[in-house]
Amino acid sequence: MDLLLLVLLLVAPVGSWLSLEDWGSGSVEGSVGEFGECVCNVFLPDTSFPADRMELIQTTSSQLSVEITLQINKVNSLKIELEVLLSSLSNLTARVEILESGPDKYIKLDFELLRIELREFEALVTQLKASLNSSSPAFESLYTEIRNMSSIVDQLESYDRSNLEVIRIEFAKLQRKLEKCQDDQDDLSNAEIGSCKHGGILRIGKPVVSQLNAHLSGGYIYGGWGKDTKPLPGSENTYWYSASSDTLVSRITQYSDYYKLIMRQGFKTHELYVEYRYDWRGTGNNYIVRENNLYYQYRSPFAMAKMNMTSATAEYKVIPKASAQFSYRYSNQNLDFAADESGLWVTYATVESKGKLVLGKINEQSFQVEQLWQTSVFKQSVTNAFMICGVLYATRSVDTQTEEIFYTYDTNKNEESYVSIPFEKFQDFYVYLDYNPSDQRLYMFNNGYYVYYNVKFKVE
Ligand SMILES: *[C@@H]1O[C@H](CO)[C@@H](O)[C@H](O)[C@H]1NC(C)=O
Ligand SMILES: *[C@@H]1O[C@H](CO)[C@@H](O)[C@H](O)[C@H]1NC(C)=O
Ligand SMILES: *[C@@H]1O[C@H](CO)[C@@H](O)[C@H](O)[C@H]1NC(C)=O
Ligand SMILES: *[C@@H]1O[C@H](CO)[C@@H](O)[C@H](O)[C@H]1NC(C)=O
Repeated sequence: MDLLLLVLLLVAPVGSWLSLEDWGSGSVEGSVGEFGECVCNVFLPDTSFPADRMELIQTTSSQLSVEITLQINKVNSLKIELEVLLSSLSNLTARVEILESGPDKYIKLDFELLRIELREFEALVTQLKASLNSSSPAFESLYTEIRNMSSIVDQLESYDRSNLEVIRIEFAKLQRKLEKCQDDQDDLSNAEIGSCKHGGILRIGKPVVSQLNAHLSGGYIYGGWGKDTKPLPGSENTYWYSASSDTLVSRITQYSDYYKLIMRQGFKTHELYVEYRYDWRGTGNNYIVRENNLYYQYRSPFAMAKMNMTSATAEYKVIPKASAQFSYRYSNQNLDFAADESGLWVTYATVESKGKLVLGKINEQSFQVEQLWQTSVFKQSVTNAFMICGVLYATRSVDTQTEEIFYTYDTNKNEESYVSIPFEKFQDFYVYLDYNPSDQRLYMFNNGYYVYYNVKFKVE
């Protein structure tokens, strides 16, 4: 990643906030979009671009670049953020040019895009805080400036429109989280992608909230999102999303990259139900996407299912003894799929084990459960579970803001243990939590929001 580019990226989103200074005299238009969501555009009046402050940020950024050079080897993990910011950068540059030179002195600022930029910037700031020496005065000054921009955005409050209220709350949350970034020092994983040369999870970073779901619906709380856990060549940046207001799994949408996900521009939606033709619907939302296959809990009969999104075909296999009686905290969560560095897994409970969690390794070629481990943890005491390097991690809820990994089962050593690795929740309710070995992140679908976590591993 080019150093200059990184510096430019640092400048870009702030540039967009600068243009908000004259918000007070702008006008706001609300309308209803194609999915019934509120769409809000702001038309800003004639405004001279605040070049002096832009310049200050530029100077600060170039001082930062020296330190960035020192840390450049850590920047790889920022790749997604940078790609997304690069797209918004060219867009912003174009908008700034229009602002500076246009005979038509109006600039149309899309609220949606602004929210994306804020979120992306927040993620970048969090990551940069971790990878750079955060006590650097240059960074602190840039950080102060970012916070000032957020407060300018807060002036939105003067627009007492119901559809702006949601956005304002988002900004308040953002500001709170930016403040928290200050003491969030080491969010980056310390093991190479794909490597298991670590001693398991040391701790989990702060939740990074990407966006409300693509339906922009607070009611779509049953769902999941993430990336393919073993992407086919050329699909490394593909994201997926599926959600509903109930636990039924009826469709999944794919996005060519993170930016498209955030912009809600899917390239393909796979329907699991087409009237008179087929009904492949699932339930429970604890699915996994792997090599462009969706692995999920089939609704009828109760079985594990695989929908090949390349060939648009589906098949199911009944797992002997797996019971639909034992769910996680919320209903229908009987089969939980997981993927890690060593392959594909499924957890469930059986009547024979009296509801204790059974862990199965799935052979992806034969689509059969080929090896089983019996744990001593009751499935109904677990909120969710995921796998990393052959180790099962089970979570439970501590309070509305805190979740805890309380149990692990290591299939490499056939050892189980009770542990306490607490982590912060963005909101209380969640149905989906899975690890992705391709980027070492935990993905959570948290009360309708896309949330992810970086994982810090123990040194072995
Ligand atoms: C910026 O992006 C928005 C949303 O994709 C688009 O509508 C707009 O035309 C773009 N502006 C420029 C100047 O490229
Ligand atoms: C971090 O930055 C401060 C202030 O610029 C400097 O004094 C300190 O030596 C730096 N620490 C490291 C580990 O680079
Ligand atoms: C924020 O920006 C305004 C306008 O430029 C300035 O007057 C104010 O001092 C700034 N506040 C901080 C904390 O930098
Ligand atoms: C999915 O379908 C494609 C295209 O027919 C095929 O090449 C691939 O092997 C299938 N994958 C699985 C896991 O069945």
